[in-house]
Order: sequence, then structure tokens, then C-alpha cells
Amino acid sequence: MLILHCFWFDCGVLLVDMRKTGLARLPEPDWEEKQVSNQLVQSIKRQLQHDEGLTFAQFMSAALYTPRLGYYANGRLKFGAQGDFMTAPEISPLFGQCVARQVAEIFALLERPSVLELGAGSGALAESVLLALAEMDQLPEAYLILEPSAALQQHQRERLTRSLPDNLLVRVQWLSSLPQDFVGVIVGNEVADALPVEVLKLWPKDAEQAFVCWDEGQQQFAWQWRHILDTDLQALANRIRAAVGEVTEQGYQTEVCRLFRPWMQSLADALQQGAILLIDYGYVEQEYWSSSRWMGSLRAHYRQRAHNNPFYYPGLQDLTAHVDFTALAYAGHDAGLLVAGFTTQGHFLLSLGITGLIAETVDVVQHLRFAQHIKTLTMPDEMGENFKVMAFLKNLEMPLSGFALRDMRTSL
Ligand SMILES: C[S@@+](CC[C@H](N)C(=O)[O-])C[C@H]1O[C@@H](n2cnc3c(N)ncnc32)[C@H](O)[C@@H]1O
Repeated sequence: MLILHCFWFDCGVLLVDMRKTGLARLPEPDWEEKQVSNQLVQSIKRQLQHDEGLTFAQFMSAALYTPRLGYYANGRLKFGAQGDFMTAPEISPLFGQCVARQVAEIFALLERPSVLELGAGSGALAESVLLALAEMDQLPEAYLILEPSAALQQHQRERLTRSLPDNLLVRVQWLSSLPQDFVGVIVGNEVADALPVEVLKLWPKDAEQAFVCWDEGQQQFAWQWRHILDTDLQALANRIRAAVGEVTEQGYQTEVCRLFRPWMQSLADALQQGAILLIDYGYVEQEYWSSSRWMGSLRAHYRQRAHNNPFYYPGLQDLTAHVDFTALAYAGHDAGLLVAGFTTQGHFLLSLGITGLIAETVDVVQHLRFAQHIKTLTMPDEMGENFKVMAFLKNLEMPLSGFALRDMRTSL
């Protein structure tokens, strides 16, 4: 996600006090938006009464995916400069053209392959990948989209109907669940970071798990910290403590995505032969659990602002956490997949020849625009380094060109 304003330094070293500064500067939602948020708040409050507290992952799941009201389900504009954040396919079609090159290389070894895109957002990636595959004469048997949000599915349909010729549009199909015996390439850009996470806090002598309660005085949701009862989470907290080293009085907060394992298992089960390409922002475990990241990576995104209050107008802001790529790799490996490549987004795009893609653009203004896109997508201080690409293979062995310039699997 690329955002235009940010109220903290990304390494987590300095956080501005949001109550004094950040929240005061967040734009106010309009009346209609507040109504949507209020309905969602009532719905989550009912859940709270019923369940006597929600873990943070349960709250995040409700805030993002409650039908009609959750952030990804309520039909509010999310993507692009007018929305809450920009993603790589939104920034430039060059991103999808590079992904298409990697897909085409894998297609060459498969019979009647398809693409399955997870969480297609605005449909920007589907559009650029399909157009590029058509140009390479490597059209997929089908371009399948698994999108849990009905509102986003509708958005994708409208966009692709406008932008794709009929011979490409007929290949696009929306699924309500993962297919069986899929042959081809599964692609997910910024989907892993949208999976709900648990939040843990380590103290010098013990560790706690975040729950969410309702603060009657403040009339908003609030953190509630409880001792960890779950033995798997406690074991994980012990591992994190060992990795972090000494935990100081200020505590050490981090996130754990317990859905990676079932999610990767379901993708591995669906894939008969082919590859999975996951692109997202995050780190390997050694960096993820570095002592300098003591405030964790949980962020809220609202109208091009990133901040650290997950309870601000639920349903109107996205909630995300950086991806622990070591955990993702192990989840894939244990699900029977081969971890076939891991690199930065910058190296992936450069390996696939992103700079050469604009060589034939004769329009000077367009050329300059594309040059700026390449900078944004590949430079280390923009999206090039924070974003990573991980590839998995099943029943297939081949070198993947996207990882030719740099493969960081040994760092996992
Ligand atoms: C941050 S958006 C990214 C959208 C798009 N891929 C892009 O790059 O612009 C996250 C997307 O993942 C979808 N999503 C969330 N959980 C998912 C899941 N388990 N399977 C498939 N898609 C999911 C959301 O509905 C949304 O479309």
C-alpha cells in the first residue's frame, strides 16, 4: 500500500501521539459514512456481548468483512488517489505486465493453464495481466477471481466490462470458493496483509494478548489486555521473546497471523499443478521481531493517511499488518509446496525487464509518467524494498525469471 501521509516513521522508532496530533488531522467522514460505521459498531457490540470479548483478530475480521458494513464489503471507494491507499497495480499497468511475463513463463510448462487472482481489489491487476497475456499470445484458459467482497466483485465487473475486449472478458469468472484441481498460477497482491492478526504484547516478565472491549465513557472500542491462555500463542510469545532479546518496561507489541497455515493449506489443496505468487509488504522473521519494531506493524489506512488507531470509525478504514514472510514460507512448505523464490518487489520487476517495457513508448509525456511509475515501484525508499514477492510451486520444478537478479530464500 502506498499512502500519501503517514503519522509515524515506518521502522516504528518514533510514533507521534495520535490523540494530540494525528487523529486531529484525520479527515472527518461525512454523515452517510458515519451511519455505515455506526451500524457496524452496533453489530460488533452485539457480537461482543454474545462472546464476552473479541480477540483482536475477531474484531479485525468483523471490521473488514461484516457483510454490507465491513470495510471491504460496504462499497465505499477504497483504491486510488481518491480512496484510502494506492496499490502497485493501481499505480501502473507496468506492474501487471511484469506479473504477466512471469505467468507466461510458467504457462509454457503447463497444459491449458488458468490464472486465479485472490482479492482483485479494483480489478486493475486483472486488466493489465490479461491485456499483457493477450499481447504475448499466452491467453489463459480462464481468468478466475476469488473476491470475498460482493461490492468489490461488482466494481471489478464494471471496470473489466469497460476496459477489456469481449474475447478477454469472456475468460473472466468470479468464484465463491477455491476451485478444485486448478492448473496454472494463483496470484495475490496485498491479500496476505489483509488477513486478520492477533496482537501480542510482551512485558519484561510476562506476555498478554489483545482483546477488544467497548469503552462506555469514550463511546468507542478500546484495547483490553489479557493473559495468554492459548498454549500455541504462549509458545509463540516465548519464541518472539527469545528473538527480541531483552524486553524493556515499555513492552514489545507484535502481530501474529494464525490464518497463514489454513490459508496456505487451502491454496495448496486447490492447486493441482502450477505456482502461487504472493506480493506484499513485510519482513523475514529476524527483522519482524527486531527489538526496534517494538510497536508492531498494525496500521489503519484512511483517505491516504496511515495511523495507529484501529478503532477510528470501524468500517471506514482499512486495517493491515506487515507480513511475516518466514511464517508464510513455512506455512506453504508444511502444506506441501516448494518455496521457489523470495525477493524484493524492486528486484522482481527489474528481473522481469520493467525498464525495457517503456522503451517503445514514443509519447514523451507518457514515457516520463512510466519512468516515474518505475521509480515508485522499484526504488528501495519507495515500494521497491518493503514489498516482497514469494513464489511457491507444486508438481512443477523450474527456475523463475522474477528471482534471477536476487533470491533471498536463505534469509527466511
Ligand atoms: C488491500 S486489498 C488488495 C486489492 C488488490 N489485490 C490490489 O492489489 O489492488 C485486499 C483484497 O483482498 C481481499 N481478500 C481478503 N481476504 C481474502 C481471502 N481470504 N481470499 C481472497 N481475497 C481476500 C479483499 O476483499 C481485497 O480485495
